[in-house]
Amino acid sequence: MKILGKYPSLRLRRNRKYDWTRRLVAENNLSVNDLILPIFVTEGKNKVESIKNMPGVYRYSVDKINPIINKASKLGIPLVAIFPHIKNTKKSSMGTEALNENNLVCHAIKKIKKNNPKIGIMCDVALDPYTNHGHDGIIKKNEILNDETVEILVKQALLQSEMGCDIVAPSDMMDGRVGIIRKALDKNNFKNVQILSYASKYASNFYNPFRNAVGSNKNLRGDKKTYQMDYKNSDEALREVALDLKEGADLVMVKPGMPYLDIIQKVKDQFKVPVIAYQVSGEYSMIAMGIKNNFFTKDAILESLMSFKRSGACAVVTYFALEMAENLNS
Ligand code: PBG
Repeated sequence: MKILGKYPSLRLRRNRKYDWTRRLVAENNLSVNDLILPIFVTEGKNKVESIKNMPGVYRYSVDKINPIINKASKLGIPLVAIFPHIKNTKKSSMGTEALNENNLVCHAIKKIKKNNPKIGIMCDVALDPYTNHGHDGIIKKNEILNDETVEILVKQALLQSEMGCDIVAPSDMMDGRVGIIRKALDKNNFKNVQILSYASKYASNFYNPFRNAVGSNKNLRGDKKTYQMDYKNSDEALREVALDLKEGADLVMVKPGMPYLDIIQKVKDQFKVPVIAYQVSGEYSMIAMGIKNNFFTKDAILESLMSFKRSGACAVVTYFALEMAENLNS
């Protein structure tokens, strides 16, 4: 019997040897409770439309959304995020359709709440699906006006809440909007409506497929760099988050996801609040196309989503939510 072992005495591979030991020592796990499903809705009837560069993702007319919501609900997905695609003829420079109580989002909220009262609904607070210039706010002489836009956003958030939306999610990046929305909600008996602030949202190249999905791509004049963040910065993200929390945000978003895992980790470390990651449309497209072209297998989806858990996110908005939930439940 030999007494002295050989170098190395510590072998990290021992904990990786079998599936059971890998499961035993896993530091992070993904469950259906971590998934938020974005849903695109469109006007008209009897429509399920495919979306350019987003294989497997569809736009539904409101009369067609029950099956996907039922499915999400059955699988245990806690929250869906609604995004509207409206006709160009309804878009205007002020985005007034956003405040129409008969608009697409209002119909969708009511329909979902009627059939699936237990699933959470989140709505974007921003004007880009409604403006004919594709910007999140209103414009005067090439400037996206901050305070004037916030006045409209407050009304949009109130309308969504009135319809039954559970979480309003300002994704517009105007300054000061979270505090004003919070005050208005409280004053109007919506003190239990949560605010998920897109606190650190970058002016990203990865949003393009989404802009096709909501029909704002062709309209968009210029870029969004005067209000969305510069991807060279990370201290600034922490300032944005600090401000939104002070103004009353219940949850904060980092967006996009995979190129910004460092930001998620910093926000979580510094503020200890619920951080949501958004695996945006361009990230979805890259992975979905990779799978379609056999560059890698579907296992890449779980790997990508686990990176968010590792970095400290409590949940992920992902176009893979349904597929992933089915997989986790099987
Ligand atoms: C609109 C909004 C965008 C996304 C979510 N809300 C696009 C943008 O800011 O131009 C992007 C989501 C995605 O790419 O999946 N304010």
